[in-house]
Amino acid sequence: MIVTIDGPAGSGKSTAARKLAARLEFAYLDTGAMYRAIALSVSGSSIDLADADSVLQFAQGLKLEIDCGPTHARISVDGHDVSEAIRSIEVSRLTSEIARHQSVRTHLIALQRKIGSTLANFVTEGRDQGSVVFPDADFRFVLDASVEVRASRRYQEMTADGQDVTIEVVAANIRHRDSIDAKQWEPLLASGSAIVIDTTEITIAGVVDRLSKIVLGE
Ligand code: DC
Repeated sequence: MIVTIDGPAGSGKSTAARKLAARLEFAYLDTGAMYRAIALSVSGSSIDLADADSVLQFAQGLKLEIDCGPTHARISVDGHDVSEAIRSIEVSRLTSEIARHQSVRTHLIALQRKIGSTLANFVTEGRDQGSVVFPDADFRFVLDASVEVRASRRYQEMTADGQDVTIEVVAANIRHRDSIDAKQWEPLLASGSAIVIDTTEITIAGVVDRLSKIVLGE
């Protein structure tokens, strides 16, 4: 069974997807981590992030390994675990830049489908999972929330991780990313295409309850 969860930064989709996968005992695929891992690696090279061909060529040469265990999603590049390093605000900003390149997207989409083909049941999360990558998924969800709530969630996550940021910087980063991130889930907002949940007023635990009840048909 395939469950997709798409939506903007800070909508709660990563936490909801991970917890839903754990509850259902499904694998968990964090596709944002794949884009982030490439951005982190490019940033450590001399390649210009705006140069799509060079970024693609570089990305094709990287060995991305992603552990889809529901409780311990980890990602490594060429054998180095980058699971924590990819979460900084600087990497978030750089990731938006490289995720705009269609050729990079096509490369990662193929990789995501390949990973999916090895998994029996999984929850996959990103921006285009229900619309582009797995349009025939059994359940397709879109999560959204107000900018203020999304910024506050990201701020709490980042400070809990020990990152030195202010809520203003996090909110500005979210607004900036909203303006340039591909909004590939938008076709799913058409009536009947996906189940859309506004998480502004619901806790993540409440969202997970709702998603799991729908998937389990309760
Ligand atoms: O979900 P996230 O914040 O980890 O995503 C990081 C970046 O990657 C964000 O700028 C959007 C991009 N992304 C994407 O374009 N498509 C995906 N399937 C997943 C993430």
